[in-house]
Amino acid sequence: MKKLLTFLLLLCSFSCLPMMAQKKGTFEAGKGSFMLNGKPFIVKAAEMHYPRIPRAYWDHRIKMAKALGMNTICIYIFWNIHEQREGQFDFSDNNDVAAFCKLAQKNGMYVIVRPGPYVCAEWEMGGLPWWLLKKKDIRLREQDPYFMERVKIFEEKVGEQLAGLTIQKGGPIIMVQVENEYGSYGEDKPYVSAIRDCLRGIYGKELALFQCDWSSNFEKNGLDDLVWTMNFGTGANIDQQFRRLGQLRPDAPKMCSEFWSGWFDKWGARHETRDAKDMVDGMDEMLSKGISFSLYMTHGGTSFGHWAGANSPGFAPDVTSYDYDAPINEYGLATPKFYQLREMMAKYNDGKKMPAVPKAPMPIITVPKFELKEFAPFHGNQHLIPAVNPMTFEEMDLGWGMTYYVTKLPEVPVQSVLTMDAHDYAQVFIDDVYIGKIDRVKNEKSLTLPAIKKGQKMSILVEAMGRINFGRAIKDFKGIVGDVVINTEIDGNEVAWTLKRWTMTPISDDYYRAARSFDSDAYPNSLGKPLGDHMGKRGYYRGYFNLKKVGDTFLNFETWGKGQVYVNGHAMGRIWSIGPQQTLYVPGCWLKKGKNEIIVLDVVGPKEAVVWGQDKPELDKLQLEKSNKHNNIGDKPDLNSDTPAATGAFSAGNGWQKVNFAKQAKGRLLCIECLSAQDGKEMSAIAELYALDAQGKRLSREPWTTKYADSENENGNHTGDKVYDLQESTYWQTSKGAGFPHLLVIDLGSEQTVSGIEYLPRAEQGAPGSVKNYRIYVK
Ligand code: GLA
Ligand code: CA
Repeated sequence: MKKLLTFLLLLCSFSCLPMMAQKKGTFEAGKGSFMLNGKPFIVKAAEMHYPRIPRAYWDHRIKMAKALGMNTICIYIFWNIHEQREGQFDFSDNNDVAAFCKLAQKNGMYVIVRPGPYVCAEWEMGGLPWWLLKKKDIRLREQDPYFMERVKIFEEKVGEQLAGLTIQKGGPIIMVQVENEYGSYGEDKPYVSAIRDCLRGIYGKELALFQCDWSSNFEKNGLDDLVWTMNFGTGANIDQQFRRLGQLRPDAPKMCSEFWSGWFDKWGARHETRDAKDMVDGMDEMLSKGISFSLYMTHGGTSFGHWAGANSPGFAPDVTSYDYDAPINEYGLATPKFYQLREMMAKYNDGKKMPAVPKAPMPIITVPKFELKEFAPFHGNQHLIPAVNPMTFEEMDLGWGMTYYVTKLPEVPVQSVLTMDAHDYAQVFIDDVYIGKIDRVKNEKSLTLPAIKKGQKMSILVEAMGRINFGRAIKDFKGIVGDVVINTEIDGNEVAWTLKRWTMTPISDDYYRAARSFDSDAYPNSLGKPLGDHMGKRGYYRGYFNLKKVGDTFLNFETWGKGQVYVNGHAMGRIWSIGPQQTLYVPGCWLKKGKNEIIVLDVVGPKEAVVWGQDKPELDKLQLEKSNKHNNIGDKPDLNSDTPAATGAFSAGNGWQKVNFAKQAKGRLLCIECLSAQDGKEMSAIAELYALDAQGKRLSREPWTTKYADSENENGNHTGDKVYDLQESTYWQTSKGAGFPHLLVIDLGSEQTVSGIEYLPRAEQGAPGSVKNYRIYVK
C-alpha cells in the first residue's frame, strides 16, 4: 500500500513538475510595443490549426514554425469540432487543445488563442455548430438568447481546458481574441462587448484580449479597452493598413493578426498562390518597423472529412487541402518560400543561431494502382421521414451527408421546368432514370423535365457540402430549402404544381454508415432495399491496399465523381472531379503495415474505380465542362446609344473611393468601363465594388453575378466575380495584352435604383491596375 502511494506521488510529481516549474509572467500592450515580462516584445506568430494536423505530427509542425524564427503559435478553436452534438464536448485525441498548447510551450513557443465563437477560417459554418440552425429563426453572432447561452457554455468548456494555461498562471497563452473580423459581418458593439465580458470572466482581467479586423472597417466595432489588430495579405501597402490605427491610437503597438501567406482554394477554380518575395518583403518591412504579426497560414494542413467550409456571395465550397501556398506545405515540409522566409527572419533573431529544421516524421511513399472491387448502394439512416413539404437536413436532425427525397408526380403532358433551392448538389430521377442535376456552385435552380405520367416517382438525391463560413450567408441550411415547383404552359395557360407529400431518407456521411452499408445483416427490415437500384454507379466502393513500408502519400481520385473518402476509418475529405484538387493527403500515421482499407462514397459514380498513391499532391488540375470566364460576346450589352450615369476619373492610391451619380439611375446591369489606368499601363484591376441605393446605402450583393467581362486573368483567379466576393485582397484583373477600354458588367439580380458606387483598388503599394478614367452605366 505504502509502495503504491509513493509510486503514485512520484508519478504525479513527474507529470506535474514541468508545468509547475513554468514561471508566471505578464504580457500586455505597452507604449508602442507589446511588453512581455516588462520588456518590449515583437510577436512573430505562426498560425496553424490543430484539427488540420494529425496529432502525431503536432510536435513536428511546431518545431518547423520555430525553425522559421517564430516565437508564438496562433490557433483558432473550432466550436463545431468540439461540440458536434449539443451538450456533448470532446477535447480528446486530435481535439486535445490543451495538449497542443502544452506542446507549444515545451517547444519554447507562446500561444495566441482565437476561440471565436465564430472564426471563419474556410471551416464549416465558420466554426459554428450546425445544430444551432435547428432553431430556425436564430440570429447567429448576435445577442440571440439561445445563441448567447450556447456560446457561454462552449467558452466555459474551452476555459476548463485553457484558462489554467495563461501566461499569468505560468502557461504559454499570451493573448485571446474576441470574435473574428466582426466588421465584415455587421456593426454591433453590445454583442462584441458581451463576448469580451464572457472571455474576460473565463481568462481573468490580466490576460490581453484583442480584436482583429480590416483597416477599412475596424472602427465599427472597436472597443476602447481591447487591443486592435489589422488583417491583410501579401503585397498589401503596410503603412496604409496602419494609417488609421496610428491616427486613433498613436501609442498602441501595431500587429497584423493575419498576414495572408497565400490563399484558400475553391472547387472549380485554379489553385491560389502568392509570390514568396512579396510575402517575405512584407514581413521584413513589418519587422523593420517593430510591427508584430501572425502569418496566416504558416502551415495550413488539411480540412479533413466534411470540415471544409464555403464562401459567398454565390456558393463557393472550399477544397479539402488547406495548403494555402503557405511556407510549410500541407504535408509539413519546407517549401522554397520557407527557406526565403527563414533567411529573412534570421536578421531578426537577436544574433542567435536559427533553430534547426526538423526531420520529417515520415517518409513519402507511393502506392501502385489498385481497384476497389466491393460495391454497396446507399442505405438510409434509421428511418424514413414522411412530410407534406420537403424538410431541411437540420429539421431532420442531420448534420452532414445526403438525403434522398421521394414523391409521386402529377400528370404533366408536356415538357416542364422543375425549380428548387437545393443545397448543394441535387440529382433528379424519374422512375429511377437520371434526368439531370441542380448544382448550387453554378447557381443552378431549375431543370427541364420530360412529359410526366400521373403517379411516376420523382427521387432527388441532395448532397450537402460545407456550410458557408463568411458573411451573412453563414445561416446556410442544407437539403431542399423551400418548395419544389413544376411550371409549364398548357394551351397557352401557365400551370404550376407545388410538390407535396414527400418521403425523406437521411444518409449521414460518416465512416460508420459507409462501413455498415457493406454489412448485409444490418438491414433486415423494410429498409433492406437499397436506395441504389435506380442510381447506377452511385454508392460506396471498398478496396484494400498492402503496404510494406508506412509513409505519407497522396491518393489520386481523378477517375471518380464526387464524394468522400475514408481510409482505415479516418475521414480524409471531399473529392470532386472538377478539381483543382485531384489527390487527397493521407498521413502515414493513419496507415499501417500490411492491409489498409479504403471506402469511397461517390454520389455521381466513378469512370473507373481505381486509386493509386503518388509522391506529390495534384492541387491544380481542373476538369471543367466550361471555363470560368465571362466572355460570351452574346452577353455583352450594347452601350453605344446609352448615356453614362457617371463619367470621370478616380484618384490614384489605395483605399475606398465613392462616386455619386448626378442623377439616380435605374436598371439591372451595372457596367463599369475602364478607359485608362493610373500607372499608364494596359491592365485594369478592381478589388471590390458596391452599388449605392437611393439613400446612398450599399445594396446587398448576395444576388450579384458577373454578366460579362471582356478580359479576365483566369490563371490567378482574377475573374469578374472577385469584385463582390467580400474580400479586399482578391480582385478582378484583365489579362496581359488586352487593350483599353475594359468592360465589366455585373447583373444586380433585379432592377435597382442606383445613386452611386464605391470602388476599392488593389491593396498593394501603388494600387497596381487602378483605374483612372471611367464611364459607368446602369442598364
Ligand atoms: C479572414 C478570416 C480567416 C480566414 C481568412 C482567409 O481573415 O479571419 O479566418 O478566413 O480571412 O483565409
Ligand atoms: Ca475582392
